[in-house]
Amino acid sequence: MAEPTSSTRRVVGIVAGQATSDGAGVKLSRIIGQPALPDLDPFLLLDAFGSDDPQAYIAGFPSHPHRGFETVTYMLAGRVRHRDNAGNEGLLGPGSVQWMTAGRGIVHSEMPEQENGLLSGFQLWVNLPARDKMTAPRYQEFAATEIPRIDVAPGVVAALIAGSIGDRRGPVESGVTAAFYADLAFDAGSSAAIALPGEHNAVVYVYEGVLNLGEAGTPVAAGSLAVLSLGGELRLAAAAAARALVIAGAPLREPVVRYGPFVMNSEAEIHQAVRDYQTGRL
Ligand code: CO
Repeated sequence: MAEPTSSTRRVVGIVAGQATSDGAGVKLSRIIGQPALPDLDPFLLLDAFGSDDPQAYIAGFPSHPHRGFETVTYMLAGRVRHRDNAGNEGLLGPGSVQWMTAGRGIVHSEMPEQENGLLSGFQLWVNLPARDKMTAPRYQEFAATEIPRIDVAPGVVAALIAGSIGDRRGPVESGVTAAFYADLAFDAGSSAAIALPGEHNAVVYVYEGVLNLGEAGTPVAAGSLAVLSLGGELRLAAAAAARALVIAGAPLREPVVRYGPFVMNSEAEIHQAVRDYQTGRL
């Protein structure tokens, strides 16, 4: 547990998502992992996808590898089928989360299982410490009904995926980064405070409405990410209905060398990852 601290976190940067596409042409907004915010230790990437146009998502993410980090997929709407070379298969529906520790390597596909309607959600990449980069792959999947919904304050409900709020815990075990991941829904005129370990990096991604953050009430609108100062609790307020992700984790403070789906600590380890993938050893 972190010691309570009197300092509240303030907004030190606001980053707008950058429109891009990935996989076989899925349109998305890249929030972390773009020039304005290449990473925020231990987070390597945050993408938001959301469209009711099948052309924006139907091609999905066919078979591709990962090594050296964790991918976290959280669905708001629609269905995605996951298959991997470790024999795991899952259908991610609205409100579900998949926390995949790629470790030494996994090859998987992530394909929309619908031909029309809305598909929306997020993918976060969480780095692994050097000592865990070559760990055995691990797959955690939780349906919406397994994710606790916590009344944080009057008019504020959190779906808690990882970490703790008071004495409640999210279902995901995230290792040394001790990640916190919650999806917060605010009624008009509501406000809340969330205690986070003071030394953990933290961000808020607003995806509906506008939130006012910190004691200064810095406004952050839908489609933007607020990077927060280190310190104590996070204060959030909403004049009108709003929704946002709050994500935090312990920084690893290790070298980051990334090449596409591989994130290691050195160039030599990247070359090894490419060779291992090309020779079918992931
Ligand atoms: Co993937």
